[in-house]
Amino acid sequence: MAIHEIKPNIHSVGAIDWDRRLFDELIPLPQGTSYNVYLIRGTQKTALIDTVDPQKESELVDNLKKLKVDKIDYIVSNHAEQDHSGTIPKILEMYPNAKVVTNPKCKTMLMEMLLIPDDKFMTVKDNDTISLGDKTLEFIIAPWVHWPETMLTFLKEDRILFPCDLFGSHFATSEPFVKDNWEIYEPAKRYYAEIMMPFRTSIKKHLEKIKELDIEIIAPSHGPVYNNPRFIMDAYADWVSDKVKNEVIIPFVSMHGSTRSMVDYLVDALIEKGITVKPFNLTETDIGELAVALVDAATIVIGSPTVLVGPHPSAVYAAFLANALRPKLRFASIIGSFGWGGKMVEIISGMLTNLKVEIIEPVIIKGYPKKGDFEAIDRLADELSEKHKTLNL
Ligand code: FEO
Repeated sequence: MAIHEIKPNIHSVGAIDWDRRLFDELIPLPQGTSYNVYLIRGTQKTALIDTVDPQKESELVDNLKKLKVDKIDYIVSNHAEQDHSGTIPKILEMYPNAKVVTNPKCKTMLMEMLLIPDDKFMTVKDNDTISLGDKTLEFIIAPWVHWPETMLTFLKEDRILFPCDLFGSHFATSEPFVKDNWEIYEPAKRYYAEIMMPFRTSIKKHLEKIKELDIEIIAPSHGPVYNNPRFIMDAYADWVSDKVKNEVIIPFVSMHGSTRSMVDYLVDALIEKGITVKPFNLTETDIGELAVALVDAATIVIGSPTVLVGPHPSAVYAAFLANALRPKLRFASIIGSFGWGGKMVEIISGMLTNLKVEIIEPVIIKGYPKKGDFEAIDRLADELSEKHKTLNL
């Protein structure tokens, strides 16, 4: 049960998922998540903003029963992904006169994924409005946060923005509102890194549009509600900006200690030059922490031994992830070792094609590092330091 009043006649009626530890069978959720649903009762019409993941269907149904909701006129679908749309068929079954309000692209996806019939929809365009009597919903088409069909809904009189995934956080809490901005900062940044970062350019444009709205509350569909929207909007403005920080992240894996000793040496050399270093042992690390570090870093150095003439599969995974998340990195390099040969550098650098990075001369050694190899790592640290200086960080 998770019913909270957000404002008079506006309730949060979704579900908290305390136990979920993996999303999309990929993303770790160390703090669980929530699927937020908002019930808005106007003087004439009632609207539901999004629904819950089908696993939590009964909780949404119970919440609506507890609030004695005898009619829903509109089910607004901001995003077709099933953690928000998956219970629309059940709500339509309970309230057969309800219309699913969404944009044409989202409608097509909902018809394909949830088999909702055509006559159940009402489609809207950018800036269209629907009146609930004393309350007005305005729809803002905002593609690519993080699917092509996404939109935001703004409740004008109450000045509440319902952005679905945008500004969300995978953070299960019994508190309806953010109590401590800095407590939510890290989960929100992790969420941005994993879900939103590949669409940084689109989000930047949407933020400009959102700034024109007079927002009092941001009510996302994951995590707590922001009653200080400026905090999360400023955080997003920083994350999507082109600014990078004086940081080097080093995702690495080592089988027999050679690559590990190179990484340790490089970490110390970079620290001596005043650079923030974040090494991630890929066999131990939560991949979400690596994603968070990618938000701000200027440089990535991937460390890998050679396995079957190529990089270690864990390093391949990290390279694939970094490339897919499209962070604003400026420089990349590779360090590692081999026993008798291989194409580790070619394979890893060939995987970073989405990144607009300058590749700094890799350091690849045979066996355990020797004096000359450590000197090569010193030269890599020097070059990275010089490159960072050119960015005026
Ligand atoms: Fe929370 Fe894109 O779904």
